[in-house]
Amino acid sequence: MNNVSRRSITALLALGLTPFTAQADALAQQLADLQSFQIIAHRGASGYAPEHTWAAYEQARDMGADYLELDLHMSADGRLIVIHDETLDRTTDGEGKVKEHSLEALKALDAGAWFNEANPERADEAYAGAQLLTLDNVIDRYGSDVRYYIETKSPERYPELQRALVETLEAEGLVSSGSVIIQSFSRDSLQQVQKLNADIPLVQLVWYSPAEDGDGLTEWTGVTPAPADITDADFQAIADYAVGIGPNVVYDGEDVIDASFVEQAHQNGLLVHPYTINDPEQMQRLLDWGVDGMFTNFPDRLNAIVE
Ligand code: G3P
Ligand code: CA
Repeated sequence: MNNVSRRSITALLALGLTPFTAQADALAQQLADLQSFQIIAHRGASGYAPEHTWAAYEQARDMGADYLELDLHMSADGRLIVIHDETLDRTTDGEGKVKEHSLEALKALDAGAWFNEANPERADEAYAGAQLLTLDNVIDRYGSDVRYYIETKSPERYPELQRALVETLEAEGLVSSGSVIIQSFSRDSLQQVQKLNADIPLVQLVWYSPAEDGDGLTEWTGVTPAPADITDADFQAIADYAVGIGPNVVYDGEDVIDASFVEQAHQNGLLVHPYTINDPEQMQRLLDWGVDGMFTNFPDRLNAIVE
């Protein structure tokens, strides 16, 4: 046991708590907090600063986000890299797949300058030269001072990602401190995580779009049928492993879910966290539907509405 752990245990005993009680309390507190509305900073405050950089995370914290949303890929040398795309081209000055580069090569890239070119009205010269971050970097900086809403991206391309992620979170005490949700479009990825650590709250992401045959909607991963056809059993099947569902709301300007989707998910014990909601009117509409949180690139806008 290291000195920090020993000190923590001593402090807990002084409060009349055993470490195991404190662990259960922290997890219970996280689940209790999830019953209140949660502001999820999508890639940080990525409307204001380059996504998944310190600037985006710091602004998200200042804007009152409850969770920092992180997307994970892996480097060639097996490190967990926080980046949304499978490739480097959009958000760095590199090119090719993340998994074809070593951590050292990834750290040499500029992950901020692109934002200034893409968003001249929000450009800041301090953003240029921002480095890509590892999950370890983020955890080293924030520890359990923030909560993390971590997406396993392309898990089929990184079969070892789930184990590396759970081992990192456990080693840092972030599961027992109630600091993490794991989200994925991949049910298989979520179920792998659950087998590794059943205490981690999981959220199943879904993506509804028009079916190719023109007949209604379809769900990208096949986790549910079209919203109009979802049964309680479909929601229950998700509730067997997840605490919530994260749907898109609009496709090509048309709603793909409605208030009844939220109500039926709730009736089956699922939280509903739609993505990615940046327009205040849309935020208010979803609040009126009773959603339990939202992913947004503009946490300050959401905070101003929910406060
Ligand atoms: O994780 C919720 C939302 O972020 C899913 O879409 O593509 O932005 O990761 P994406
Ligand atoms: Ca994501």
